[in-house]
Amino acid sequence: MNGLRRRFSAYTWEPITVGRSGAGVYRLDGRESLYLKVAEVNAHPDSGFDLVAETARGLWLAEQGLPVAEILDHAADAAGAWLLTRAVPGRTAADPWPADRRDAVVDALADMARTLHELPVADCPFDRSLAVTVPNARHAVAAGLVDLDDVDDERRGRTAAQLLDELTATVPDDEDLVVGHGDYCPPNVLLDPDTLDVLALIDLGRLGRTDRHADPALAMRSLLDPDNPQFTPEHATRFLTRYAPDGDLDPKRIAFHCLLDEFC
Ligand SMILES: Nc1ncnc2c1ncn2[C@@H]1O[C@H](COP(=O)(O)OP(=O)(O)OP(=O)(O)O)[C@@H](O)[C@H]1O
Ligand SMILES: [Mg+2]
Repeated sequence: MNGLRRRFSAYTWEPITVGRSGAGVYRLDGRESLYLKVAEVNAHPDSGFDLVAETARGLWLAEQGLPVAEILDHAADAAGAWLLTRAVPGRTAADPWPADRRDAVVDALADMARTLHELPVADCPFDRSLAVTVPNARHAVAAGLVDLDDVDDERRGRTAAQLLDELTATVPDDEDLVVGHGDYCPPNVLLDPDTLDVLALIDLGRLGRTDRHADPALAMRSLLDPDNPQFTPEHATRFLTRYAPDGDLDPKRIAFHCLLDEFC
C-alpha cells in the first residue's frame, strides 16, 4: 500500500464506501481518473474476496466483447492484492436517477443480464456452480466468516448454522448454467447517463458458470432494498418480466440464491 501511495502521490485519493467486503476502493484523480481496489489476504474461500480472481474474470469478459473497466495494472503478494482500473465515465445504476429514467435504467440492467447470460457457457473457465458455492458456504460457516450483521432482514437473529441448515435443505436438484456476474446489483453496473448504454460491468470476482436465477435474484433484491428508495417493487417486477418474458423463473430458486449470497 505504501508503494501505491508513493506511485500515485500526485493524485487525490478519495475512499469509496459503496460495497460490502473488506476490500478498499479508492478513486484516484490526477492526470487521469482511476479506481484502485485493495484487498488484504482473506481467509474466505469465495472468489468474490479475491482480486486475482477478479482480475482474471475482467480480462476474460473483455475478451468476450462485453464492456468492462479497462485493467491498467494489478499485483498480488503474500499480504494482499490490488487492481487498478481506468475510471469509467458513467454512473452506476444505483446512483440517483431522475424519476422518468428509472424504468429505462431497470430495462438496461435486465437487457445486460440477458446479454451476459447468452455467452456460450461452455467457454467460461470459471466455475460458480453449486458444486463450488455450497461447499464455500459450508467452509465460511465452519471458519466463522459469515457476517451475521449483514443478512437480509427476514434472517436477522438466526445463527450461521441455522442458515446453513436452511441452505442445505433447499439446494436445487439441478442447474440451468449460464455465464453469471455473481453480484449483479445496481452499484456494479455503470451506465452512460445519456444513452443508458452499459459502459462496464465491474466487481467481477464472482463471475462464472452459475444458475440463471442467481443474477436476477440479487438484482431484484437490490431493487427492492429500501436503502435505495428510488427503485420500487414495480421496478423489481419490471426487471423480472423484461429478463424473463416467458415467466419461467422459479421463485424458490430466486429465494435460494438470495440465501446463498448470505454466506459470501
Ligand atoms: N473503473 C471504475 N469506474 C467507475 N467507477 C468505479 C470503477 N471501479 C469501481 N467504481 C466505483 O466504486 C464502487 C465500488 O467498486 P467495486 O464494486 O469494484 O467494489 P466493492 O463493491 O467494494 O467490491 P466488493 O463488493 O467485492 O467489496 C462501484 O460501485 C463504483 O461506484
Ligand atoms: Mg461493488
